[in-house]
Amino acid sequence: MTLTAKSADLRANIAKALCLITEKKRTIDWILTHHPDWTAQPIQRELLYGCARHYLEVQSTIDPLLKKPLRDKDQDLYHLLIVGAYQLLYLNIPQHAVINETVNATKKLHKPWARGLVNGVLRTVSRNNAQPKLEEPYFGHPPWLAKQIQQTYKNSANDILVANTKRAPMTLRVNQTKISVCDYQTLLNHNKINHQIGALPQSIILDQPMHSQELPGWHEGWVAVQDLGAQFAAILLDQHTNEPNRILDACAAPGGKLSHLLELKQNIIQSQPTNVTAIDHSPARISQTQQILARLGHDLALRSGDATDLTWWDGKPYSAILLDAPCSGTGTIRRHPDIKMLLNAKSIDELQELQLKMLNNLWQTLAPQGTLLYCTCSLLDAENDGVISEFLTQHGDASYTSIELPTGSKRKHGWQLLPTDPHTDGFYFALVHKKGGLER
Ligand SMILES: C[S@@+](CC[C@H](N)C(=O)[O-])C[C@H]1O[C@@H](n2cnc3c(N)ncnc32)[C@H](O)[C@@H]1O
Repeated sequence: MTLTAKSADLRANIAKALCLITEKKRTIDWILTHHPDWTAQPIQRELLYGCARHYLEVQSTIDPLLKKPLRDKDQDLYHLLIVGAYQLLYLNIPQHAVINETVNATKKLHKPWARGLVNGVLRTVSRNNAQPKLEEPYFGHPPWLAKQIQQTYKNSANDILVANTKRAPMTLRVNQTKISVCDYQTLLNHNKINHQIGALPQSIILDQPMHSQELPGWHEGWVAVQDLGAQFAAILLDQHTNEPNRILDACAAPGGKLSHLLELKQNIIQSQPTNVTAIDHSPARISQTQQILARLGHDLALRSGDATDLTWWDGKPYSAILLDAPCSGTGTIRRHPDIKMLLNAKSIDELQELQLKMLNNLWQTLAPQGTLLYCTCSLLDAENDGVISEFLTQHGDASYTSIELPTGSKRKHGWQLLPTDPHTDGFYFALVHKKGGLER
């Protein structure tokens, strides 16, 4: 990895980004959007994602080397030490270059007085020949989170915790309304992009991640980037929708599952119009989704709506509802390692409350004999079977339908995919059926 004249700048900016995560609770996605100059180059993203992925391990290396914790106003320096130590521990960059450039970055942070401190700590890390520490029992996770995963998954918990520190594969969904999978594969082969077919017919897993805009046919909307686990949602919903279709996607942005569903419906039932309503409560995410749908060739206007109330509802019941609820994202820690820095145990209780509130509210809009697909990208029982179990005890007209997918494992009410399963993030799905009306 080559170092440029701007190396010190680059490290100072990553230190500032880490401060925004820890102090202002910003996400990496927010930083990518709001500080594109901090994250434009591959080395910048490597540093940002890498420091987040191994934050707790790097902390446990440098904290014992500090005589006392740095002051609140010097957290930028503390994070500069994290950036320096991360490189020494995990990257193959000459050690003297790492130390020099990280020391020079103190000037970029307007704290040249800290040169000696940064130099001393990093030289000690380097001299100790420290190895990255991915240690039991928490494997670089906050203890409360590791414990919740261990309680839920018992024997496989350690494998899941280790898998969370790895990188996720890049998976594509071929837009079969525009091109066949076979033709798209030919295109990939022509461009020397090595890949394999995933567990679902429209899914393709790339050997190496790449910039999505450089994919063949990206601008023509021939393909979307979507985790394999996420691709099961539209398939499950499609299989369990009664005719005539009147479908609600209640948390639709950024439209991954929605666009897949529209593709399935367009492929299968040209004659039977599908009526899809899609809402989300974030205006910014709605406008982003509109652009994504347009690229993929789907003509659907999302509506602004809050899934915890009914102000947006026209009063006509839906035959199927997708509730892809806001959740901890703990199934996607490989892609969003900042989750380990941002999440706390209290936020799980708040999310569970919101998830139940949404379910209770949306249930009123589901027709008898209708199906609701509840899904999260969480590994935690509290947000998954825990929510469905509570919901079923509250609603006598609700029953769950068993799910079986080619990968993952059965939970009491739903189905769980794990980051240890082949090519998937962690996802949870539960199908809830509404009794009543004319039984078939
Ligand atoms: C997990 S994401 C949905 C991902 C989307 N289904 C997809 O496949 O691309 C959750 C979404 O819920 C939205 N959301 C959060 N609270 C909401 C609420 N009260 N009502 C409606 N949408 C909400 C968020 O803006 C976010 O876009």
